[in-house]
This record gives sequence, C-alpha cells and structure tokens, in this order.
Amino acid sequence: MLAAKKIETADTAAERSAAYRNAMARLAAAVTIVTTDGEAGRAGFAATAVTSVSDNPPTLLVCLNKGSSAYPAVKANGVVTVNVLSADHQNLSRLFGGKTPVDERFAGAEWERTETGAWRLPDALVAFDCRIASVADGATHDVLFCEVLETVIRPDGEALVYFDRGYRVV
Ligand SMILES: Cc1cc2nc3c(=O)[nH]c(=O)nc-3n(C[C@H](O)[C@H](O)[C@H](O)COP(=O)(O)O)c2cc1C
Repeated sequence: MLAAKKIETADTAAERSAAYRNAMARLAAAVTIVTTDGEAGRAGFAATAVTSVSDNPPTLLVCLNKGSSAYPAVKANGVVTVNVLSADHQNLSRLFGGKTPVDERFAGAEWERTETGAWRLPDALVAFDCRIASVADGATHDVLFCEVLETVIRPDGEALVYFDRGYRVV
C-alpha cells in the first residue's frame, strides 16, 4: 500500500522533520565509521550520510551534525578516515552511533594510524583517508568535502547497510 505524505508549510517543524525521517528510513545506506585525530584529539562517529562527489580530484562528502561530540575535533583537525563497515561490524557501529565515551568507542576494535593521523579499521571493506578540502553549511549539519589521499581496499566481505531503522547485510 503506497502512503503519500505532503510536507506542508503549515505543519510544525517537528512534524516536517518526522515525515522526512520516515521517508529517509526507506533509503538504504552503507554504514561507515568516520575517525579523526590531531591537535584537537581523537574522535569518531557512525555515519550513513557519505556520498561520492567526484573522481577528479577524488572527493567524497560526509554530513556531520554540528551538535555531535566529534564535531569540534573533526573541524579543528581537518582530516578524517572514512571506514566502510562489513557485516561483522554491527556492534562497533552501535558503539560509534550511541552516546558512548570516545575511549570506549575506540576500545571496540584494533586500529591502524593513517597517513593523515586519523584511524583505519584494518578489516574495513574500504578505508578512505582524507583531508577536508572545504565545508558547506547544511543547517543542523556541516557538509564536509573530503579529498581522498589514500584508499585501502579489502577484496572480500559483505556490506553492512542501514535500512528501515535496522542493520542489514548485503
Ligand atoms: C546508522 C547511523 C548513521 C548515522 N549517520 C550519521 C551521519 O551521517 N552524520 C552524523 O553527523 N551523525 C550520524 N549518526 C549519529 C552519530 O553517529 C553520532 O555521533 C552518535 O549519535 C553519537 O552522538 P555523540 O557523538 O554526540 O555522542 C548516525 C548514527 C547511526 C546509528
């Protein structure tokens, strides 16, 4: 059964946000953990708002909530590593996607230091090591345009996907 839902200007902001979130629950997305490190310290968060922008120069974007615990460190360090999760990483995603203290998040796995100084999961499906080339304002979020400096690709493994407010394996 199809359910049409107009998002009216007469609706409250909370109603419009809820309608949008319900719609976005139908958009399946790869789950990643984005890490950073540097003078502003280590931080990381689970992210599905990660998309390719261009292959020239190799660039991806990450949408980061301005109110999140990782925000100050990501902005100040200016570098991130985007780790694309495999089916085995569900618990790690919960750690980095909940209100867990940063040391407990990183204690959930072994990490390797990347060239930029951020952190790579050795068994990520792929890890993109990036410097943040520019930032655009996206209301509650910043859109980080991340220039990819190195990729580390794992040839096997199954993907962890977030769909309908739950984890799926592809
Ligand atoms: C599956 C999933 C996807 C998420 N995607 C994003 C995202 O793309 N951008 C973002 O800023 N936060 C995203 N979050 C929330 C962050 O992981 C956030 O850091 C987390 O809720 C913990 O908040 P805190 O770091 O402020 O304690 C996502 C959370 C989950 C569980």
